[in-house]
Amino acid sequence: MIILSIESSCDETAVALVENGRKILTDQIFSQVDLHAVYGGVVPEIASRSHTEVISILAQRALQDAGISRREIDAVAVTYAPGLIGALLVGVNFAKSVAMALDVPLIPVHHIRGHIAANYLAFPELEPPFLALAVSGGNSMIVDIRGYTDMHIIGATRDDAAGECFDKTARVLGLGYPGGKPIDELSQTGDDLKYKLPLAHVEDNPYDMSFSGLKTAVVNLAHQAQQRGEALDAPSLAASFCRAVSESLVPRTIAAAKALGRDKVVIAGGVAANSRIRRDFIAACEAENIRLYFPPLSLCGDNGAMIGAQGYYEYLAGTHGAFDLNAYANMTI
Ligand code: KG4
Repeated sequence: MIILSIESSCDETAVALVENGRKILTDQIFSQVDLHAVYGGVVPEIASRSHTEVISILAQRALQDAGISRREIDAVAVTYAPGLIGALLVGVNFAKSVAMALDVPLIPVHHIRGHIAANYLAFPELEPPFLALAVSGGNSMIVDIRGYTDMHIIGATRDDAAGECFDKTARVLGLGYPGGKPIDELSQTGDDLKYKLPLAHVEDNPYDMSFSGLKTAVVNLAHQAQQRGEALDAPSLAASFCRAVSESLVPRTIAAAKALGRDKVVIAGGVAANSRIRRDFIAACEAENIRLYFPPLSLCGDNGAMIGAQGYYEYLAGTHGAFDLNAYANMTI
């Protein structure tokens, strides 16, 4: 089954063709990062307009690149939540039109389900059940994946997403937007023990997280250094910050996996590209005899193929979108 899949929830427009949920035939991505960088963050209206400009061109390019004709498309999958509403609507409307024109099923896909499914593309042997940590610019959550479409949130951030915290810290350090990658690079030469940053403990649920205190601590450190006329050791602050985020994510995920008896852990989303978090997960999973999966860097960020992967399993489970399908800024997984 060949699925044309569309992603437009934030600042990447992506159109892919995926076969049977596991094989990428093509994955066309246009990143708007340069358009938003001057503003220090994503400007929703600019995002929507840019999606509108490029989405048809990417679809055309996808067909050419894969050598697939329109008649070979069996279904159209699209991200319909969560994300920037204007941005999502561009993808949803385009998907509906294509599905109608080709007379094929329309499959709505939750963005975070897609991020987790990116691992199905990279690891043909991976099957549920497993525990997933999804960490991106807008979400941070630990999810028990009991089946391809049967998911339960075990813990989540109570405030900011981990990616948001990376982006804010990067801004304080003058590293531009998006900040995760530059912080990761800068941290490589720093001393991760130099700055003591707070690790939040959340009442009630040991698997919930909080990143707003960490974000505020970095902002305060930077302001205090500025007031005193002291120079910040930026590489060490970046390294200490990465350590703090990793220490918030890794032990919680491992503890949840052990509590649920899961022997496979999957990490997903843009922040899963972080080298410190990957390293700490490798060590922790080795120590606990847990099999660890994380997607290649190319599948960590937003892409269309991950929507085609999850879309396939949604289709098999009977999820079909009607032609009045809407987009939603917020939606639980
Ligand atoms: O999954 P994603 O591409 O988009 C969303 O669905 O949100 O995630 C984007 C987030 C941004 O906050 C970005 O700064 C972060 O992922 N990110 C990283 C790294 N690469 C991207 N964070 C930490 N380390 C990285 N290497």
